[in-house]
Amino acid sequence: MPPTSSPIAPAPDTGAKDPPRPHGRLLVVSNRLPFAVDLSGPEPRFRRTVGGLVSGVEGYLRSRIAAGGGGWVGWPGTDVAEADRPRVVEAARRDQGATPVFLEAAEVEGFYEGFCNRALWPLLHYFPSLVRLEEADWAAYVRVNERFRDVVLDALEPGDTVWVHDYHLMLLPAMLRAARPDLPIAFFLHVPFPAFEVFRILPDAWSRALLHGVLGADVAGFHTLDYARHFLRSAERLSGLEAREGEVRHAGRVTRVDAFPIGVDFAALAGAAARPDVVAARAALDAPLGDRRVVLSVDRLDYTKGILQRLLAFERVLERSPAWHGRVTLVVVAVPSRERVDSYRRMRREVEEAVGRVNGRFGSVAWVPIVYQFRALGFADLAALYLRADVALVTPLRDGMNLVAKEYLAARADDSGVLVLSDTAGAARELGEAVLVNPYHVEGIAEGIERALELPLEAQRARNRSMRARLRRYDVVRWGDEQLERLDRARAASRSLAERHLGAGDRARLLAAYRAARRRLVLLDYDGTLVPFAGHPAAAPPDAGLRALLARLAGADGTDVVLVSGRDAATLETWFGALPVALVAEHGALHRDPGGGWERLQPADSAARDRVADLMEVFADRLPGSFVERKEVSVAWHWRRADPEIGAAREAELVEALHALLRGAPLEVLRGKRVVEVRGAGAHKGGAARRWLGRATYDLVVAAGDDATDEDLFAALPPGAWSLRVGLGESRAGFNVDDPADLRQVLELLAGPPADADA
Ligand code: UDP
Ligand code: G6P
Repeated sequence: MPPTSSPIAPAPDTGAKDPPRPHGRLLVVSNRLPFAVDLSGPEPRFRRTVGGLVSGVEGYLRSRIAAGGGGWVGWPGTDVAEADRPRVVEAARRDQGATPVFLEAAEVEGFYEGFCNRALWPLLHYFPSLVRLEEADWAAYVRVNERFRDVVLDALEPGDTVWVHDYHLMLLPAMLRAARPDLPIAFFLHVPFPAFEVFRILPDAWSRALLHGVLGADVAGFHTLDYARHFLRSAERLSGLEAREGEVRHAGRVTRVDAFPIGVDFAALAGAAARPDVVAARAALDAPLGDRRVVLSVDRLDYTKGILQRLLAFERVLERSPAWHGRVTLVVVAVPSRERVDSYRRMRREVEEAVGRVNGRFGSVAWVPIVYQFRALGFADLAALYLRADVALVTPLRDGMNLVAKEYLAARADDSGVLVLSDTAGAARELGEAVLVNPYHVEGIAEGIERALELPLEAQRARNRSMRARLRRYDVVRWGDEQLERLDRARAASRSLAERHLGAGDRARLLAAYRAARRRLVLLDYDGTLVPFAGHPAAAPPDAGLRALLARLAGADGTDVVLVSGRDAATLETWFGALPVALVAEHGALHRDPGGGWERLQPADSAARDRVADLMEVFADRLPGSFVERKEVSVAWHWRRADPEIGAAREAELVEALHALLRGAPLEVLRGKRVVEVRGAGAHKGGAARRWLGRATYDLVVAAGDDATDEDLFAALPPGAWSLRVGLGESRAGFNVDDPADLRQVLELLAGPPADADA
C-alpha cells in the first residue's frame, strides 16, 4: 500500500452497483480512521492502517461515492498535540474526507489499550483468561464513546445515515439515538459475538449497557448467524427483551439483528495480476523464492490468529517429511499491532523464537524454511504473494471473519491454489470447500498442509470455482448495500409501530369520547396489562394506586369495569372482591358481578385437568424454576424464571405431549408468554366480552390486553371500540401503548383526578 492512501470522499467511482438509497451521505464511524497521521514533516501526511475493518469499509465506501458520498469519523491513531489539531482537522477533511476524534494519552490507555483490547477483544474472541476488568477502563470507554457522539453530532448534515463499526463503539448507537431519535443508524460488529456463557463474564451493568448501546441502531449486523443469535440470546437473558425472527422491539422501535458476512472487493483482486505494480512485485519474488512451493501466512500479529500453532505445524511437516526439505518455503507476514498491550508483546517474542528455532534446526545456506517479515505490506506486495503462494495457511484460533482467506481466493483468477482454513474463523461458514482444520491441533494442521501441497490442480480448481463464485456474488458492495436496505426496512417497521402508538392526539380524542359517553364498558386484562409480569404469579398483587384507580373508574356513573383475567377466581376475589368491578377468571370460565357470587360457565372436568397437571409436574421436575398452577377449570405450567433456551425447548416438548394426551378431549392448549395453559375449549376472553356487550347498550367500549389470549377479547369488540395492546407485539388491537405504566396513565386520564371522580 502506498504511504498515503487514496482519498475517501471525492474518488470517482467505477463499476458500482445501484445503491439501495440514492439519498444522503453515509457517515462511517469507527475507532480507527483508515489512516494514521504523521506529523514529522511540514504538512500532515497520512499512512494507511491495516485491518479487516479498514479493508472492508473502504472498499464499500468507494462504491458509495457516486451515491450520496461519504465521510469517516475516527481516531487518527497518534497523539496529536493541542496546537497541531486544527491543521490535522483541516488536512484530514481536505485530503481524506475525514473528521478526526482526538484522544488524550490517558484515554488511549484506558479506552483503547484497556477496555477495548484488554477486556472486550479477548472476551469476544473466547480468551477469558486474558480478560482484565478495570473500573477505570470502563469509565474511559463510556467517556470516549461520548466524545465520539459529540463529534458525530457536530459533523451531521441533514439526510445523513450513520454507520457505527466494531467493539470500540458499542455504546454509541444508543447515545446517538437519545440525542437524535430519527437518525438512521446502522451498527456492524467486525469480531465474533460469543456465547452467553462467555459474554456474561462482564459485570451485568456493563454487558447490559453494551447490548442496549447496540440496540440503539436500526440494524445491528454480524458476520455470521451464530454471532447474531448469540447477541440476541444475551439480550434476552440480560435485558429480558424478546426477539422474534431476528427482530427486537423495544422503546417503541424495531432493531433488525442479522448476519451480513463481509465480502471483498472481488473485481479489484481478481484483476490484480494484470496491474503493472503487482507484476513488478511478483517478479521481485522470483529470486528469493526460486521454484520452491510457497505456503503463505498473513495476519496482524495477534494471539487470536494462531500463528504459533501454525509455525509448529510447519515444523511438524519438516519433521515428518524430509522430502519437503529445500522444496517448500513458509512466508510469514506479521503486521505489527497493539504493541503496548502485554499479551501482544509476549506473542511476538514467542513467534520470533519459533521462527528462529525452525530455521536453525532445518535451514541451510541454500534454503531458509521460514521467511519472516514483521511489517505491513501494501496492496501490490500482498497481491503478489497471494498470486505466488501455492497454499494460503489461514488458521486463526478465533476470527470474526478473516478477509485474508477471501482475498487469497479472489486473487486466484485461474482458480488454482489451496486454502487451508480453520473451522473457527467466520469465513469457514462460506468457504466449506477449503481444507478445514482445527487450529489448536498442530498435527491436524500439519496433515492439512501436506494434503494442500499434494492436491492435484484439477481438484484445486473444482474447490475454488464454487468458493470464488460465492465471493464474486456476495462482494463488499453487496455486504454494505444489504445492511442499508435492511436499515430502511427496520425504519419502516419502526414507523408503522409509531403510527399504531396511542399518541397525544389519540389520547385527547379518547378522553373526549369517554367523557361524552353515557354508558361505558371497560374490559381490562390484569397480568402484563395493569401490572408487569413477576417471576411467580403470587408476586404480582395490585398496588394501592391501582386499586384506587379501578375504584375511581368503576365508581363513575354508567361505567362497567370488568377485569378479564386468566387467573383463578380465589385470587381475583382476594385482590378485587371489595371493589365495584366485575371479575372474569380463567379466561372466561368463571364470572362474578360486582359484589355478587361466582358463576361457572364451564363444567370442570377434574379428571382431565388432573391428568394434564400430572404431565406438567413431570416437566416442572425437569426444568428448574418452572412450576404448575392448578386452577378450578384450567391448569398452567409457568417457566418465566427458568433458563430461556432450555425453557423454550421444554415448552415445545410439553405442547407436543399435551396434544397427544388431549386428543378428542374438550380441552385446548394455549401458549402464552412463558406459560402453557390447558383450559376448556370455548372458554375464552372473547366469550366474556360478548356476554357483557349483550347486557346493555354501551356507547363507548375500551379494552386493554397484552398477549395472545387478549386477541380473542379484541376480536369480539364492536366497531368503534378502543382496543389497546400493551407492548409492541403484533395485534389486532387498534393501538399500542408502551407498557403497564403507560396504560395506567391512560386510565388515570379517563378516571380523572380523585376529586372529580367523587364529584
Ligand atoms: N493486510 C494488509 N497488509 C498486510 C497484511 C494484511 O493490508 O501486510 C490487510 C489484508 O489485506 C486484510 C486485512 O489486512 O484485508 C486483515 O483483515 P482480516 O479480516 O484478515 O484480519 P483482522 O486484521 O481484521 O483481524
Ligand atoms: C480488527 C478489528 C478492527 C481494528 C483492526 C486493527 O480488524 O476488528 O476494529 O481496527 O483489527 O486493530 P487496531 O487495534 O490496530 O485498530
